[in-house]
Amino acid sequence: MPSTTLIAVSALAAIVSVAVYLPMQRTKSLLEGPAFVENFGMERCQRISGPAYCDDVRIQRNLNLGFLACDPSLPYRNFAASVFDESKIQENGALWLYDLNKPGTSAEKLSIKGFDGPFHPSGITFAPTSEDGTPARVVILVVNHVPLEVPRVEVLYYYPARKSLVYKKTISSEHFFAANKIAASSSPTVHQYDDTPSFHIVNDHGYNITDWKREYEEKYNLPASSLVYYNARADKAQEVGWRLQMPTGLVSSHDVDSVWIAQGKSGTIDLYKSHTFSAEHQEQKILSADTRQPITITWPGMLNEEVMHTKVVNVGVDYEQETKTLVTVSHPKWNNYLQVAKDKLQNKDVNPSVKAGLIISRGNKYPVRVGETRPKPRKDVVFDPEERPRKYKYQLFLEPVISHDGSEFGSPSAIAVANNRVLVSSHYEQGFLDCNIAP
Ligand SMILES: *[C@@H]1O[C@H](CO)[C@@H](O)[C@H](O)[C@H]1NC(C)=O
Repeated sequence: MPSTTLIAVSALAAIVSVAVYLPMQRTKSLLEGPAFVENFGMERCQRISGPAYCDDVRIQRNLNLGFLACDPSLPYRNFAASVFDESKIQENGALWLYDLNKPGTSAEKLSIKGFDGPFHPSGITFAPTSEDGTPARVVILVVNHVPLEVPRVEVLYYYPARKSLVYKKTISSEHFFAANKIAASSSPTVHQYDDTPSFHIVNDHGYNITDWKREYEEKYNLPASSLVYYNARADKAQEVGWRLQMPTGLVSSHDVDSVWIAQGKSGTIDLYKSHTFSAEHQEQKILSADTRQPITITWPGMLNEEVMHTKVVNVGVDYEQETKTLVTVSHPKWNNYLQVAKDKLQNKDVNPSVKAGLIISRGNKYPVRVGETRPKPRKDVVFDPEERPRKYKYQLFLEPVISHDGSEFGSPSAIAVANNRVLVSSHYEQGFLDCNIAP
């Protein structure tokens, strides 16, 4: 007869194994994806030539210009996918410019005046400027991930009239250890002399590529990475969000210091908003880095306010504030993309053994009964949240507009939206996509 203690211990062991096994199993099927990837909507897209191997694309909306961060060495430094070989890295990357006012024309490579040194760009963002008129100067922040060094942020000025890009300064922080994407804040906390905005940045992993714990983070898909905030007047960064699962998409939302995050390995798109919970913990008296005056700054208190479960590995997200348009780009089959990455690491000109497609989705709002999660109301009920706010609310759902198996274009890295057009960059393709996603 087994003792009661033995029974209790066995029962506990069983509960623990189920609790660990089920989430692991869910992530495993998320990364595997469906057996078959549908093809629709690609006729909405054209491939634009110019750069290859791009990690990010963003649109500066006052100018209607697309900026892409691309790097011939990217196949040898795909750190987010943990596929890399630093010994093969030779060439530097660059930013490329695409004029959305001239659809179909190829993108132009920009050189950076006053900058020499290794340049391996990942995330890009722009300091917000007033929405009317053409800015004389745009402040651009770029994550520069030099292999075996802590990634840093380069501050650049772009002068539209001269089409020239000029280096201003470099921002470093130990908290940028696996920095990937970046989103400038609309907060008034801006450097008083050089206009550097405060910003959020995501680390795609919780451990850097030389840390032994990284292997376990990868193997068990551990949610260990973080969200970091840089305060421009303090010239300091702090972690403000934790336990993220391979976040590789980040964009500012409506409210000041709020962000949408695409967490690849959790299969979700999350909205985080900043709140002041406790002045004692969030406020800090400092000597400002710019004017050398004593000031009080407030660190964001990030609260997860919305989670959209998408059942795909989302890598890119963008949000157009004026039209409230949310778009995402996702991998239908992450494991295929990993295989492409491994093939390209051996030889970047090789034709990969598998296809890694893409899914482009847009957020649509539907009225939903409070307490329910169904995307659409029953046909026989009149749902009007404006009239019956206590019973119904609008809820955002991501719905695919374009789905492709990767035979023509795949391995997406990021997405940018403006006026019903999206640009989609790719880690392994030549060129990028310009698609119409009008409803
Ligand atoms: C990576 O992490 C390890 C362990 O935390 C640390 O010793 C090392 O300096 C880090 N390297 C870089 C480039 O960040």
